[in-house]
Amino acid sequence: MKIILLGYMGSGKTTIGYQLAKKLYLDFTDLDEYIEKKEGKTILEIFTEKGEIYFRKIEHIYLKQFISENNSYVLSLGGGTPCYAGNIDMITRHTKIQSIYLQASITTLYERLCENSSKRPLIAKLTKEGLTEYIAKHVFERSLYYEKAKHRISINSKSIEAIVAEIRILLH
Ligand code: S3P
Repeated sequence: MKIILLGYMGSGKTTIGYQLAKKLYLDFTDLDEYIEKKEGKTILEIFTEKGEIYFRKIEHIYLKQFISENNSYVLSLGGGTPCYAGNIDMITRHTKIQSIYLQASITTLYERLCENSSKRPLIAKLTKEGLTEYIAKHVFERSLYYEKAKHRISINSKSIEAIVAEIRILLH
């Protein structure tokens, strides 16, 4: 089974992916962590030292590599992965990959990202006031790509267990 989770920063891709993989006895990979291991640098360091364009290039290369080298997995993407380099089309063209968009409201994302922005280069320097507007605009722009996923699940005020259960039903 090949499962890819996508959605905005703070939508729970890593947490849900890890728990889902455990339940399904599949290997779990987080694309950001995979990139960090391969490059020997944190995402923040890559952005700071080499810039976002470089990051998007290697993100595409590692995604392609991961998909071609693995047969059975749960993979969580970075929030921007579906929106660059034709990544979402590469994923949806692949008939055996189940792609799932974890959809969250602006309020949910704001609450989560407010406390947790320092390691995320795109929002690390924003004020709390700037953050809501940034998220709202950015989610709007990115939805076009997220919506291409085969499935969509709304995650607002649901527990991790409930979301994992919902995904399992969806995939049956
Ligand atoms: C990004 C999201 C991050 C990471 C990078 C860029 C984005 O992943 O890939 O900072 O463009 O939304 P998470 O969604 O796991 O935070």
